[in-house]
Amino acid sequence: SDPDPLQDFCIGDTKSALSVNGFPCKPAANVSSDDFFFDGLSKEGNTNNTFGSLVNQGNVLAFPGLNTLGISMNRVDLAPGGLNPPHSHPRATETGVLIYGKILVGFLTTGNVFYSKILTGPGQMFLIPKGLVHFQMNVGEEKALIFTAFNSQLPGSVIVPRNLFASKPSVPDDVLTKAFQVEKTVIDEIKSKFGA
Ligand code: GLV
Ligand code: MN
Repeated sequence: SDPDPLQDFCIGDTKSALSVNGFPCKPAANVSSDDFFFDGLSKEGNTNNTFGSLVNQGNVLAFPGLNTLGISMNRVDLAPGGLNPPHSHPRATETGVLIYGKILVGFLTTGNVFYSKILTGPGQMFLIPKGLVHFQMNVGEEKALIFTAFNSQLPGSVIVPRNLFASKPSVPDDVLTKAFQVEKTVIDEIKSKFGA
């Protein structure tokens, strides 16, 4: 849902000091075949972390050739039991395809309806409507791999637990105790898990 391009391509000069909607184009004379190819999603992500998952982002920041073209992709590796935690993309609808493994995919509507399904077969696809909170969990015994695609060069990712409990500066405890209807000790415990 990014704006349409006004030329064939505009390889992003992501280091430019100019601030525009997206990135300025690097000079045509400096464009080569390499600008249209990207190896960043070819390697398995290290899932040895709290969530047991790793999202490798193939957005415009990693792959500047996507600039102005309104698409991007991620690679998501999930260890058994691993979770790509609840998050939303403010600027894009997401679709994904399972390469291997067994995953539970779910999303929540603005009316708090939960839609989900367990995908078990290579090639099965899922859809996350723009901006809605969603997750993927590896519910199998083996590793799982999915590739996701977005209709934005930079979908943005609001990771709900980090957003609320690991922000800088942090959200006042009064806000969180009231919002979640729990004691401050519970908020402190959650914040401590994220190194806040
Ligand atoms: C998966 O939800 C992703 O954002 O890549
Ligand atoms: Mn997502």
